[in-house]
Amino acid sequence: MSIVKIVEVGPRDGLQNESKIIPTDLKTNFINNLYKAGLENIEVTSFVSPKAVPQMSDADKVCSNIDLSKFNASVLIPNLKGIKLSKRHDFNEICVFTTTSEAFANKNTKCSLPESYQRIKEIFSHIENNQKVRGYLSTVFGCPYEGDISIDKVLYGVEKLFAMGCYEVALGDTTGIGSPDKVLKILEKIKEHFEISKIAMHFHDTHGMGLLNVHSSYEQGVRVFDSSAGGLGGCPYAKGASGNLATEDLCHYLNERNIKTSIDLKKLVQASKEIFEFLGKSSMSKVNQYIVRSHEL
Ligand code: HMG
Ligand code: MG
Repeated sequence: MSIVKIVEVGPRDGLQNESKIIPTDLKTNFINNLYKAGLENIEVTSFVSPKAVPQMSDADKVCSNIDLSKFNASVLIPNLKGIKLSKRHDFNEICVFTTTSEAFANKNTKCSLPESYQRIKEIFSHIENNQKVRGYLSTVFGCPYEGDISIDKVLYGVEKLFAMGCYEVALGDTTGIGSPDKVLKILEKIKEHFEISKIAMHFHDTHGMGLLNVHSSYEQGVRVFDSSAGGLGGCPYAKGASGNLATEDLCHYLNERNIKTSIDLKKLVQASKEIFEFLGKSSMSKVNQYIVRSHEL
């Protein structure tokens, strides 16, 4: 077992922002190949409103076409309807989400912050005994609508998510505006109040700071990181947000530090290849690009 837990969010966060609808079988191949590449924790999709995020409207089909028991499969759920729809499948883990910002709650989920916590409470009332709940707190480093976010709002959100029963809280740098100094400042405060082993970091790599932020977090004791294959991703309700930190970059960084992971980098690069080809894009990850070149993938 690796000492660092990597949560692969490519099939959900990686794809949700793409306007060209990706065929379901490409998504299921992607997920199966991520598993074969050694990813043990994969957020496979989200049961959200198809009007809000059309790309995720085949969530049910995606889940029917993969064997969710093979890995730690999680799914993102915004409300009561979402958790009810998810019941047709056996998820080890349900992911709930809220934010530090009233304006972002409004844009992303069409509700106020108190309502977003009320929705999470409703989701909790439908959680099965064998299911764990992961909480995301978005806009921890700042909000695209409200600007700077006080540390008190961050602490409030983390406190609420743990108090409601989340076993882990992922701090979201939704628009990729974090920096190592900001990471340090936030995590120093977080550590005064919460166990660092229960905190995950979720970086978007908009300004190429993802890995530096990982380094800063690792030095503060964080051992759980979210990333997406090839650096796919973005939030449809956070203008300008680019992809998540690439899983390839994260793995390379960990390998260089002699931190063992279960991931085969070549297989990982191959896993997202079909998706990038369909989208007519290339991965921005330098590690991905190097592996493509050196193995002529
Ligand atoms: P709403 O319009 O207020 O919802 O949206 P509603 O309850 O009025 O329903 C509207 C329609 O959606 C109805 O259908 C519902 O049945 C349907 P109609 O009667 O019009 O045909 N509906 C649903 N369908 C499927 N699954 C559902 C569902 N709920 C309603 N669960 C709502 C409110 C929250 C539903 C909507 O705003 C929504 O789905 N938002 C999600 C947006 C989203 O997915 N954002 C990205 C994920 S968060 C993220 O990326 C950040 C993160 O990565 C961390 C970070 O980076 O910081 C996690
Ligand atoms: Mg995200």
